[in-house]
Amino acid sequence: MLEVEAIHTYYGDSHVLHGVSLRVGAGEAVALLGRNGAGKTTLIRSIMGFTPSRDGRIALEGEPIHSWPAHRIARRGVALVPQGRRIFAPLTVRENLLLGARPSGRADDWSIERVFDLFPRLRERASQAGARSRAASSRCSRSAGRCSPTAACCFSTSRRRDSRR
Ligand SMILES: Nc1ncnc2c1ncn2[C@@H]1O[C@H](COP(=O)(O)OP(=O)(O)OP(=O)(O)O)[C@@H](O)[C@H]1O
Ligand SMILES: [Mg+2]
Repeated sequence: MLEVEAIHTYYGDSHVLHGVSLRVGAGEAVALLGRNGAGKTTLIRSIMGFTPSRDGRIALEGEPIHSWPAHRIARRGVALVPQGRRIFAPLTVRENLLLGARPSGRADDWSIERVFDLFPRLRERASQAGARSRAASSRCSRSAGRCSPTAACCFSTSRRRDSRR
């Protein structure tokens, strides 16, 4: 479904991804692991079109997407859940959720009611500004004595080649 073939990504002159390849099949959940600074975020940014690769190929269901702008890749169905609490602080909880809504036409389609059923606290906070929810979430995780919750899109590293290692 998602194919990354030998991509090379740079920040200016800094060559960060050296021929990274991986595949994610339909219905497959894949995790990408690596030490700090290894290039996990850069790979996700390349797939999403935020930091396009300069060489190699990225294809979704056989269609090359590596030269597309990020908004077109998102419309094609690729989603990025950013690490940390990077929400739109001035928008309400409901508005933040609606930003991620993309009807697929399937019977089990996304709906805000389904999200509220899964996460009932969000229904209670639907009209609250995102900034307040973020602060509450932060207090909550600190008081629980653990790291902030992280949700990130992860892909496989099984075929990854990174010559910097
Ligand atoms: N905006 C940037 N400009 C220049 N170099 C960057 C930029 N972002 C990341 N880098 C560098 O690219 C390399 C890969 O960073 P990246 O953030 O992709 O790693 P990571 O695996 O996600 O790390 P972490 O586990 O800390 O999140 C690192 O050497 C980092 O310093
Ligand atoms: Mg990272």
